[in-house]
Amino acid sequence: MVVASNNKGKIREIKQMVQDISLLSLSDIGFTDEIAEPFHTFEENALAKAGEIYRFCGKNVFADDSGICANALNGAPGVDSAHYSGTRDDDANLQKLLANLQDKDDRSGYYKAVMCLLWDDETYFFEGICEGTIIEQPVGDGGFGYDPIFVPNGYDKTFAELSPEIKNEISHRGKAVRKMVAFIKEKLEETAS
Ligand code: IMP
Repeated sequence: MVVASNNKGKIREIKQMVQDISLLSLSDIGFTDEIAEPFHTFEENALAKAGEIYRFCGKNVFADDSGICANALNGAPGVDSAHYSGTRDDDANLQKLLANLQDKDDRSGYYKAVMCLLWDDETYFFEGICEGTIIEQPVGDGGFGYDPIFVPNGYDKTFAELSPEIKNEISHRGKAVRKMVAFIKEKLEETAS
């Protein structure tokens, strides 16, 4: 199965969680372009990414579209998280979010991930949400993207300070990936019986 992403942080986390299914990267299948994500919802972008790679290689494929949503900004940056500052630079994007939240009292927000799976000519979606607080200064050097400013509910550390195991257990991506893996295992068992 192919994982349709060039984002190293996402791929690292997905590989940590999906150990009994062998995953091919975009470079393994010889895909070297940027994948377009032109839409305004996570679902449409995840489908567009998975579809582009399916048309390229014809193999079962899944794509993750994800982002961070600040409640005081009506859900921004949301689907624009990867290029919020006009660049793909994680630090510039994080700084722009901090600047836009500077005068806001409501620091609540959430990460959302939507996985689109194209499996044997059918399309399936799996979603995960992780709620928390967007703090004022970056803390920690693990994770990627907005992790140094995101403290998940129930914890007093940012995703960049928590271990990868804890992040995967509670994160938006962890929740979506576990739903997808359970679904695939069920499908494989049905086929085997
Ligand atoms: P896309 O799904 O390729 O549009 O990119 C998602 C973007 O959302 C990433 O580039 C990050 O900026 C942000 N993002 C999504 N998930 C996470 C996460 O787990 N940690 C930190 N940032 C994330």
